[in-house]
Amino acid sequence: MSFAGKHAVVTGSSRGIGRGIALKLAEKGARVAVHYYRNREAAQATLEKIRELGSDGFLVQADVCQPDEVRRIFQQVRSEFGSLDIFVSNARTEAPTFYQPPMEITLDHWNIAVDSQAKAFLVGVREAVPLMAEGGRIVAITFAPGGRFGSWQPWVAMGAAKAAMEVLVRYFAVALASRRITVNTISPGWIEDSVLNSLPEVFQTGLREWQERGWTPMGRLGTPADIGNAVALICSPEAGWITGQLIDVDGGASLMDAHLPLEFQGVVTPKKAQAV
Ligand SMILES: NC(=O)c1ccc[n+]([C@@H]2O[C@H](COP(=O)([O-])OP(=O)(O)OC[C@H]3O[C@@H](n4cnc5c(N)ncnc54)[C@H](OP(=O)(O)O)[C@@H]3O)[C@@H](O)[C@H]2O)c1
Repeated sequence: MSFAGKHAVVTGSSRGIGRGIALKLAEKGARVAVHYYRNREAAQATLEKIRELGSDGFLVQADVCQPDEVRRIFQQVRSEFGSLDIFVSNARTEAPTFYQPPMEITLDHWNIAVDSQAKAFLVGVREAVPLMAEGGRIVAITFAPGGRFGSWQPWVAMGAAKAAMEVLVRYFAVALASRRITVNTISPGWIEDSVLNSLPEVFQTGLREWQERGWTPMGRLGTPADIGNAVALICSPEAGWITGQLIDVDGGASLMDAHLPLEFQGVVTPKKAQAV
């Protein structure tokens, strides 16, 4: 798989999963617009790594909650690259901007979640498409459990915002099919070197142990590179017949049944497997 001669933009690629995606696309030859919000130094570090991989790109700053700033990202892509092949919508605002339970959440918090996901995606796709030829690729990064379940109470706004974005993916997939542009969603499980590392230690430890026990059947958290690999696959020419789909990239975590204790499900955790 080669993306030589291709141009990509990955929102939120200063760090975390977005950086993993940007580096994988660059490793395969794409030039990448590295988008950031406030952390220019981290974005510059991503760009340096892209150059070490033998590719190139540029930095672009924008608040994705502001439609005019989203438009500016693509104006810069037009002036720097002239065309676009891959648009990955990955940026997500910091948890304190939206993290409140349903009975308490303010409309400002709600709006930030929806504006940064569904609205940013709506505006972004409509700006990206005029820059794309046949074979263009659009990928939304979601956290699908937030929209499927109601258990993580303070995630209500982001869950709803991601669900709305997932719906948009299906509508855009149909709208853009005649141009041979595919639109898909990738839903990572919990990922190392991401927002996770900014959460309280007790949360991080509890979450790692939970996944390693078997709630992620592959027995570990994912990495930004795992998600970069999935995005690269869905952006390859061979994936041209796959559109409008939501793909869980989570080591099997989304297959687990929360109604039953693990022991009853007969799950062999990697730790147990090592012990026998
Ligand atoms: N982490 C996980 O385990 C996990 C699991 C499933 C899905 N996801 C999804 O994967 C994506 C990336 O998550 P992550 O944990 O890797 O993120 P992260 O490490 O928290 O990084 C967030 C990124 O978004 C940018 N950003 C923050 N506020 C912004 C704003 N207002 N406008 C534009 N950009 C903004 C940040 O830029 P600066 O560096 O400049 O601040 C940074 O590049 C998100 O869509 C998230 O929902 C994550």
